[in-house]
Amino acid sequence: ERSLLGLKGLDRSEITAILDRASYWDKQTEKLNPVLASKFVSNMFFENSTRTRFSFEMAEKRLGAQVLNFAAAASSVEKGESIYDTVRTLESMGIDAGVVRLKPTGVLQQLSEKVSIPLINAGDGNNEHPTQALLDMFTMIKTFGEIKGLTVSIIGDIMHSRVARSNLWGLTEMGAKVQFCAPDNMKAPELAEHAPYVTMDEALKADVVMMLRVQLERHAGGMIKSAEDYRTHFGLTEERAARLGSGTVIMHPAPVNRNVEIDDAVVESAKSLIFPQMSNGVPVRMAVIERAIR
Ligand code: CP
Repeated sequence: ERSLLGLKGLDRSEITAILDRASYWDKQTEKLNPVLASKFVSNMFFENSTRTRFSFEMAEKRLGAQVLNFAAAASSVEKGESIYDTVRTLESMGIDAGVVRLKPTGVLQQLSEKVSIPLINAGDGNNEHPTQALLDMFTMIKTFGEIKGLTVSIIGDIMHSRVARSNLWGLTEMGAKVQFCAPDNMKAPELAEHAPYVTMDEALKADVVMMLRVQLERHAGGMIKSAEDYRTHFGLTEERAARLGSGTVIMHPAPVNRNVEIDDAVVESAKSLIFPQMSNGVPVRMAVIERAIR
């Protein structure tokens, strides 16, 4: 039984094992492979989600697991029940693993120390989103063959981004060069020792240009002058996309703010892997769920 709380500290062999197993699941032609038929998994989302929530459910169901979906808005959390009491409640009922998304940072580690079932981080605050970075790395491997030697530019709201952090830890461990590009008020100073901040023009000269969503819901307000101003300085506009090298690919964890951090016409352009990333989330999460409880 193995939790997955983050990629920080996970070594290359463990990441490779997950990605290899994801590749195995990706190649299966049968949609249903019920190796987890006697297992019960609960998806506990204390924060909204579309991709992560449904691709975990898809992954669990493709492995034949019994799935219990928990949405905070329709639960006793609304009456004030804590995250800990909620997870303990589901554990008491007999679930074998929990997939958890929550807003606060640091709570998941404490939770995992108090419960005996494996927990999988589906995104915690601005800390980590390990399965997103794993599916991003899986997408890069499918595109380039390997991660070692790639230059990956992560552009946008680094400060608030758990995706940037998980990708930084995972990609660095796998031998890629990571660089950031962000407005001054969206930089994460504590990450500067791990990856350089470069200009937008420099950031476009990379194998992977990974755009981040401007997380309007996490901003106290006033962090961007306007959507148009952000687009002008840090958006992947059609004009900037046209200047990318022939082998460069575009990624974004989604949801996207079209015409803010990425132009509408670029989202589904030939260089974009945004929807393939979503497809790749399923086999990657199959590998992570299987690793946790099989
Ligand atoms: N990429 C991602 O985590 O999307 P959701 O918030 O919709 O799960």
